[in-house]
Amino acid sequence: MPDGGAPAAPAEGASAEGAPTVGASAEGASAVSASAEGASAEGAPTVGASAEGASAVSASAEGASAEGASAEGASAVSASAVSASAPSASTASSVSTASSAPSAAELLAFARRIAANAELVASLPLDPEGRTWLRLEGPGGSEAWLIGWPPGTGTGWHDHGGSHGAFAAAAGELTEQSLAAQLPTEGWKTLELADGVDRHRRLPPGRGRAFGPHHVHQVFNASEDRHAVSVHAYYPPLPLMRRYSRTGPLLRLEQIERAEEWA
Ligand SMILES: [Fe+2]
Repeated sequence: MPDGGAPAAPAEGASAEGAPTVGASAEGASAVSASAEGASAEGAPTVGASAEGASAVSASAEGASAEGASAEGASAVSASAVSASAPSASTASSVSTASSAPSAAELLAFARRIAANAELVASLPLDPEGRTWLRLEGPGGSEAWLIGWPPGTGTGWHDHGGSHGAFAAAAGELTEQSLAAQLPTEGWKTLELADGVDRHRRLPPGRGRAFGPHHVHQVFNASEDRHAVSVHAYYPPLPLMRRYSRTGPLLRLEQIERAEEWA
């Protein structure tokens, strides 16, 4: 949702990340209005075919690692895809290290556990005009949020600044569109995505997914009449988020939001 027009407007995580807790301020409430989110997502500038040095990105590691750790256990993983420089969530889930940092799989387990806590989920105020959120205490120093999504709201395309994480639906249904490609993190403004990198999944209550540190996605509530509620966790706490616009195969970096801006 490149939501550049709505300062501090949260992505599914972004919101989260540093935005005030529910009811904290009127300012916070306005930053997550449904109209702002929708407008930004739809109103991203069109990227011309001659945009700066667009280059093809082939399907590779990111999707693979993220998929591997997902609750759905997706098996569409290219064996050659996992980059040695990008620790995969799937590896993290199966290898015990000396670090106490929570793995993506552990964050997913947390998100699903919280999503199953009906009392906590029901405590989140819902607002038909915009997203609402509650900060949670995530495991191992992670950042976690309970987020309410009115019908039609979404995040727009974004990454998580190198953090890995997970999310799970608690009520309603979320839709995720993601890229099974690892994008270069620096040095580009526009990329042309190769065919076949798009992934699409629906997350009904109880379903979730983990993702690796290079995951790029957008999440939205496609329902026309029903709120969705979800739980999100990130580790380390999000240092920044890159927001992108998407025009067909062209992905354009629109904005880099840093944690201090959300405070
Ligand atoms: Fe996200």
